Amino acid sequence: MGKHTLKTNITSLQGDILVPGDKSISHRSVMFGAVAEGVTTVTGFLMGEDCLSTVSCFRQLGVEIEEHADQMVIHGKGWDGLKEPKEVLNVGNSGTTIRLMMGILAGRDFHTTLIGDESIGKRPMTRVTKPLSQMGARIDGRQSGEYTPLSIRGGGISGIEYRAPVASAQVKSSILLAGLQADGKTTVIEPEKSRDHTERMIRQFGGTVEEDGLFVSVRGGQTLKGTHIKVPGDISSAAFFLVAGAIVPDSSITLKNVGLNPTRTGIIDVMREMGADLTIEEIDGEQMEPVGNIHIKTSHLKGTTIGGDLIPRLIDELPIIALLATQAEGETIIRDAHELKVKETNRIDTVVNELSKLGADITATDDGMIIQGKNKLSGGIVSSHGDHRIGMMLAVAALICNDEVSLEQKEAISVSYPQFFADLEKLM
Ligand code: S3P
Repeated sequence: MGKHTLKTNITSLQGDILVPGDKSISHRSVMFGAVAEGVTTVTGFLMGEDCLSTVSCFRQLGVEIEEHADQMVIHGKGWDGLKEPKEVLNVGNSGTTIRLMMGILAGRDFHTTLIGDESIGKRPMTRVTKPLSQMGARIDGRQSGEYTPLSIRGGGISGIEYRAPVASAQVKSSILLAGLQADGKTTVIEPEKSRDHTERMIRQFGGTVEEDGLFVSVRGGQTLKGTHIKVPGDISSAAFFLVAGAIVPDSSITLKNVGLNPTRTGIIDVMREMGADLTIEEIDGEQMEPVGNIHIKTSHLKGTTIGGDLIPRLIDELPIIALLATQAEGETIIRDAHELKVKETNRIDTVVNELSKLGADITATDDGMIIQGKNKLSGGIVSSHGDHRIGMMLAVAALICNDEVSLEQKEAISVSYPQFFADLEKLM
């Protein structure tokens, strides 16, 4: 866990990046493949630590998963093909793995214990353990099911209508995965719409799901069929280069094969609103998820206000958007983003503290932050705090710093983007 000197004072970034696979879709491809009947093949799978945690957990649940250079092959044997694991399942740093897997395990009549790393041990789980318990799963955990270690014995569950207190795709997906195995109908009502990869994937695996505004419903007793999944590039990973291209002088970058699902493209709307020189070329013929190439050039930016139902469409991009705002004329306000406090780190605190160390004018609020631009960044010793997105944001910030920048806990970046520094180098 040494210190890593970051590249600073960069005068230009030029070139193309083939963005790595979408993390949310990669997780779901393995989970759905595991509970479907027959073989599922997945291309473009993200070989990041989080998705590999999902692979190892499903192997422990008895699913055969082959890793090839060009694809993953998952040998699903249906819901009943899952077996009681002999050991504790470790989800590492991955909130998506634990929360979605709980939904699957809620329908299985066997016992499982789930643990994760130090960060997972601080993340709220009642948001899934409460609705899944209401459906009939027997779940316990530290502080009455709020924190790991969690244990679950599922089976014999019934559908519910659940009004989710937060817009969270992890919560919605967990309940829908349980609902697919429950008696009767399960409905989730969200306060704002969160990413819909689970809904799209249910259809891709031959299942049915009804969507009506903020209502999403599934019927129980559905059998899923193995399929082929082509994972698009992750817009949340592309985001670091979108911002780098906009703030580093004399830059022109093309991000190729980026997933453009409208529930994920909030960053594009915000960058355009701020005046970014950004163009999109959509690629035709993609089935499950829309995909395109995004071109970004050095931009003259102005501040903006970000809140309301835009927040779930860019929740993971807020750290890098905060950096973007330091280079925009005037004030940027981020509000309605309480959820940042329960990510891999408290991202209101980590973004504000680490960017302040580099000389940014940024203040924490109860539900977001206020940033005054545009100001030159200096340098200093910063840390990812074990949070991949904070690490990458700081590496992009360093590009426009005048003085030396050292990053502690750089290795966290492998959670979602193991090739990040190699890709960044290619543009220099
Ligand atoms: C994810 C949903 C989001 C996001 C996370 C991935 C998913 O979390 O922050 O990185 O794959 O469903 P929430 O559902 O908690 O908002």
